[in-house]
Amino acid sequence: MEKVLEVKDLSVQFKTYRGIVKALNGISFDVLKGEMLGLAGETGSGKSVTSQAIMRTLPENSKIAGGSVLFEGKDLLKLTEKDIEMVRGRSITAVFQDPHTYLNPVFRIGQQFKDILLNDPAISSIKDKKKREATINEKMTQSFRDVKMPSPERIIRSYPHELSGGMKQRVLIAMAFSLKPSLIIADEPTTALDVTIQAQVLRLMRELQKKYHTSVVLITHDLGVIAENCDRIAIMYAGRIVEFGDVKTVYAKPLHPYTQGLMRALPRADKDAQIESIGGTVPDLVNPPKGCTFHERCRNVMDVCKTSPPSPLFHEGRIVECHLYNEPLGGS
Ligand SMILES: Nc1ncnc2c1ncn2[C@@H]1O[C@H](COP(=O)(O)OP(=O)(O)OP(=O)(O)O)[C@@H](O)[C@H]1O
Ligand SMILES: [Mg+2]
Repeated sequence: MEKVLEVKDLSVQFKTYRGIVKALNGISFDVLKGEMLGLAGETGSGKSVTSQAIMRTLPENSKIAGGSVLFEGKDLLKLTEKDIEMVRGRSITAVFQDPHTYLNPVFRIGQQFKDILLNDPAISSIKDKKKREATINEKMTQSFRDVKMPSPERIIRSYPHELSGGMKQRVLIAMAFSLKPSLIIADEPTTALDVTIQAQVLRLMRELQKKYHTSVVLITHDLGVIAENCDRIAIMYAGRIVEFGDVKTVYAKPLHPYTQGLMRALPRADKDAQIESIGGTVPDLVNPPKGCTFHERCRNVMDVCKTSPPSPLFHEGRIVECHLYNEPLGGS
């Protein structure tokens, strides 16, 4: 399978008054063409920092401490600001939780959409103004049809505040898909919405992703959302990916005690099953615990976990980072 994105050994740190926050500590994963990859983990595990590092939108106080982000054969971390801008908004686009950070309240939707479409040289190079405007209008209308918005003409003329939360999120999705990017990063795209609207919007994204064979990284703390929409899943903890594999395989038999904990915390249909939250809290990333960063909360903790960090292993069809599976090579 063709890889669209390959993140290798990526580390990101933040300078704060408390010290250095070790937000990402050598994460590696790939995104295949046409797949939806779920990125899960509790708050503070590094999901958003991962997306910011890929898009090169990390804040000022950050530092890439190592690694690479290969996209279409190029390391995005090495591109000039001008070149990354060409990638961002055209080949890689984003959908965020809060439409307000993305939609400008003082411009009509049509105006903002037009600015995005003009990133496409095939559109911006049309000399004849009338023809260019007509192409833009046609593209916008098509995009709004894609996301099942009833009257595109009205939406184009609207200001963001005239639309409901669900509508605004549909607009963002329409914009994200409009230039047929290779990759879309959606960071908690529906968390702010009602549950029923949430499901509709996700289904829509899944539909478009399949229709256009786009790759999507779907960031969410909701494992149910990933189960329903994603092909593969990466579970993050304290700036590491602790388990990574096919959604079906991982959900049928989670291997990492952290993944198992997250699964036990999921509401389930069978009433007898207990919902249980993982005890303890996420570690302080200024002074992370020695050894495995999960050991203080782990039910299966062993002595080795307290002193030495586990390495990623290929086990039962997925990658898992846990001493429990650290059998000698060739062992049973
Ligand atoms: N600008 C910043 N300055 C200092 N620390 C930061 C900054 N941005 C993020 N962090 C830290 O990096 C770590 C990872 O944060 P991140 O936002 O990626 O978490 P997340 O998994 O997206 O969580 P959530 O589910 O709450 O969105 C956290 O410890 C966070 O406090
Ligand atoms: Mg986040």
